Amino acid sequence: MASKETVLITGCSDDGIGYGLAAQFQKRGYHVFATARNVSKMSKLKDLANLTLLQLDVVEPAHIKAAVEAVTRETGGTLDYLISNAGHNHFMPILDEDLDTVKTLFDINVFGPMALSKAFAPLVLKAKGSFAFITSISGYVNTPWMGEHSCDMVASSAKPCAQAHMLQRSEASSSSLRPYASKLSRLASTS
Ligand SMILES: NC(=O)c1ccc[n+]([C@@H]2O[C@H](COP(=O)([O-])OP(=O)(O)OC[C@H]3O[C@@H](n4cnc5c(N)ncnc54)[C@H](OP(=O)(O)O)[C@@H]3O)[C@@H](O)[C@H]2O)c1
Repeated sequence: MASKETVLITGCSDDGIGYGLAAQFQKRGYHVFATARNVSKMSKLKDLANLTLLQLDVVEPAHIKAAVEAVTRETGGTLDYLISNAGHNHFMPILDEDLDTVKTLFDINVFGPMALSKAFAPLVLKAKGSFAFITSISGYVNTPWMGEHSCDMVASSAKPCAQAHMLQRSEASSSSLRPYASKLSRLASTS
């Protein structure tokens, strides 16, 4: 691959925030690894140049391993930006929650992104690159009808800060973005 900067984004199904980020990075000359748990849901990205589609369910260790291998093959083992965007918003008063659902949501919103950044850390550190996490304003503002969502977003919002402390001496960085009721059309209009 030529000397383009590289970015991998999770959760790039058509018309979500991940799709919008992938399209913008591609337009600005990056090589984009756009990922989704179902590749056929990235229909609007599939014909773009300098864009590689990969299947990646963030709760599947085999998918994470295959994604690291695919990026390593194409870049020689570096990645400039890892954007953990995949996630699931969920609204339910916490006392009505089903605990199995809560565990599944923590797997997707907390443990998946943790596993992903751990697996890609050697590539991002080699590039002196950046980890970015799309978290939520719900990690900061607690509302009564979305208790579980606040809990997993507190956890996922703490991660970029913890990781940033750890990366201080490596020249790599870690940050989070916290959308609130964002629609892609609104993001696109400010780009
Ligand atoms: N939009 C907002 O206002 C808002 C507010 C707060 C936080 N957020 C966060 O921003 C991110 C993007 O939100 P969005 O509005 O663009 O939502 P979206 O359109 O529902 O997109 C979510 C993406 O994550 C994917 N995903 C879900 N579970 C996954 C898994 N296990 N592995 C891999 N991908 C998975 C979805 O795949 P499928 O298409 O297969 O389901 C989809 O591609 C999410 O993390 C969300 O929590 C958004």
